[in-house]
Amino acid sequence: MKVLIAYAGVTGTTEECVRRLAAELSNLDVTVTDLAKETPELSSYDLVLVGGCVRRGKLYAPLRSFFEEQGRDLLDRPLGLFLVCGLAHEYEYYFERLLPKDLREHAFATLYFGGDLHPKQAGLWDKLYLYSMRSRLRESELSDFEYTPTLPGILPESIEKMAFLCKQALDAKK
Ligand SMILES: Cc1cc2nc3c(=O)[nH]c(=O)nc-3n(C[C@H](O)[C@H](O)[C@H](O)COP(=O)(O)O)c2cc1C
Repeated sequence: MKVLIAYAGVTGTTEECVRRLAAELSNLDVTVTDLAKETPELSSYDLVLVGGCVRRGKLYAPLRSFFEEQGRDLLDRPLGLFLVCGLAHEYEYYFERLLPKDLREHAFATLYFGGDLHPKQAGLWDKLYLYSMRSRLRESELSDFEYTPTLPGILPESIEKMAFLCKQALDAKK
């Protein structure tokens, strides 16, 4: 059985999540594809795991395009969806707002893999954006005294869960 992991990330967190996920599935025939570099041919795969990061309240563009162009084909096979984002308290909202409804309903799993910040890998515009975010967070911290940083890092238990559910979905297909 052939498994595709298709992902799109910018500063390395999604890539690291995918590396860990592929390691969890090392006894299977797994192909990993960076959607910013290539477009996979879905018909070759029995199951697809797909996800990426949230930037400025949107899905990273290569992932958005992938859903637009190949969303219908994703409905033809078992599908696991994952998101990576810095604001842990927002991830359910992002799942609902950013991932197509038909794909969410079809998926055997929709999981949050966590999020991290790697400012050194970010470009100039991203750095400026992060600085403006940081000052906004400080303002909110001062105004209500309740702000607690929510950057969760990578969540290994979530990646393990995806691997478990993926194997379960493949067993059901046999
Ligand atoms: C320019 C920029 C914009 C971001 N916008 C958001 C956002 O709107 N919501 C959020 O939860 N996290 C946001 N983040 C945090 C990223 O989702 C987080 O750093 C994630 O781990 C990045 O994944 P990557 O390393 O695979 O690119 C942003 C990060 C950057 C650099």
